[in-house]
Amino acid sequence: MKGIVLAGGLGTRLYPLTHVTNKHLLPVYNKPMIFYPIQTLVNAGVKHILVITSGPHVGDYLGVLKNGKELGVDHLEYAYQEKPDGGIADALSLAEDFADNDSMTVILGDNTTDADISEEISSFKEGAKIFLKKVNDPSRYGVPIFDSKDDKKIIGIEEKPNSPKSNFAVTGVYVYDHKVFSYIKNIKPSARGQLEITDVNNEYIKKGKLTWAELHGYWGDAGTFKSLFNANSFWANKDQQA
Ligand code: TTP
Repeated sequence: MKGIVLAGGLGTRLYPLTHVTNKHLLPVYNKPMIFYPIQTLVNAGVKHILVITSGPHVGDYLGVLKNGKELGVDHLEYAYQEKPDGGIADALSLAEDFADNDSMTVILGDNTTDADISEEISSFKEGAKIFLKKVNDPSRYGVPIFDSKDDKKIIGIEEKPNSPKSNFAVTGVYVYDHKVFSYIKNIKPSARGQLEITDVNNEYIKKGKLTWAELHGYWGDAGTFKSLFNANSFWANKDQQA
């Protein structure tokens, strides 16, 4: 199992902070944001990690993460997304050589969670597995549609729907087999010009190869001022209660 942290994108919603450095190096309580997804992977036993990034501050990563040893990473590689807003699936396409036919756990670099995903990762065999979380505002996210006859089965995912068909969000934690790269090659850019991970997940659904698990514990992105503040406050409280 390989690990991939997607840290491209433009981070426009955090301007002017993202004029200072890359979004994923901004502080969340006492660590740079990207430490959290890396730690989630390492805690789950995934220690062979690729960080995919982009933008004017990419050089800052080397000085912060170095070879990853301080975070418990055995092997750390970097890749550069040429089109920073090409989409999550465009960023993931850069991991094909690194994955080398293995399965991979993918985490968005602005997602932080205290969930333990080690069992879901070790039991993974093929296809795709997504992690869902119940939220109050599903229309901000990819939202699963469940089969009316089998409420465990997802029959489709809608990206940021106006009328969400469930109150679950598709979180930025995914496990894929190596077929993900051929699905990415088959999808087309969306109306906003991005290769969408939701379209990739829908390809797996069409093939009957997508499973899901609920992410237990805290989960949030840190890509807006409000969610960055919430993430800071969650991790500060957790540390103070420890
Ligand atoms: P977003 O928050 O949707 O996009 P963004 O980071 O460009 O921010 P903004 O909308 O404020 O401009 O992306 C979520 C994560 O996905 C982001 O933290 C990193 C990753 N990502 C990439 O790696 N490449 C991409 O092309 C995009 C769009 C996102």
